[in-house]
Amino acid sequence: MQNIFLIGFMGAGKSTVSQVLCRKYGMSLVEMDEQLERQEQMSIPEIFEVRGEEYFRRLETQLLAGLQGQENTVISCGGGAAMRQCNVDAMKKSGKIVYLSTRPETVYERVKDCHNRPLLEGNMNVAYITKLMEVRHPKYLAAADVVVETDGRTAEEICEEICSVMI
Ligand code: S3P
Repeated sequence: MQNIFLIGFMGAGKSTVSQVLCRKYGMSLVEMDEQLERQEQMSIPEIFEVRGEEYFRRLETQLLAGLQGQENTVISCGGGAAMRQCNVDAMKKSGKIVYLSTRPETVYERVKDCHNRPLLEGNMNVAYITKLMEVRHPKYLAAADVVVETDGRTAEEICEEICSVMI
């Protein structure tokens, strides 16, 4: 199968869906955040705090550029990765982009007790998530080859929809 880049807001279910896709279809997995944490030997909040967001964004861009040549892989992208056009271009060169779209209320319910997302630290409320999503949603849409709604659906159902349009 061609590479699949899962994009979407924090808490959209990219990690869960990518794991199910890999298990079901025997694909390899690149979890961007985890790979960058291993590479930098720091958690995402530490990278933001010690090196700054711009540094983290450069790491994302380098990682995506380095994926050329990769095959049969699901790439679970960080929620901000599709905000840079050069990142989207790199994704388009090596696979299809699937946008997991989610309502702000669903995102909030999924992430409200987590403390590993620096952008939401101190901003953990539906109003802030809605505002940030309004900025990001058009960019996710513009980048996507396929849009899949995730609210109220299981990872299995989402995977089936993705595969029905990929094959
Ligand atoms: C970010 C999303 C996070 C992580 C970082 C920044 C964003 O990944 O890359 O905290 O800008 O939306 P998830 O989407 O996996 O939470």
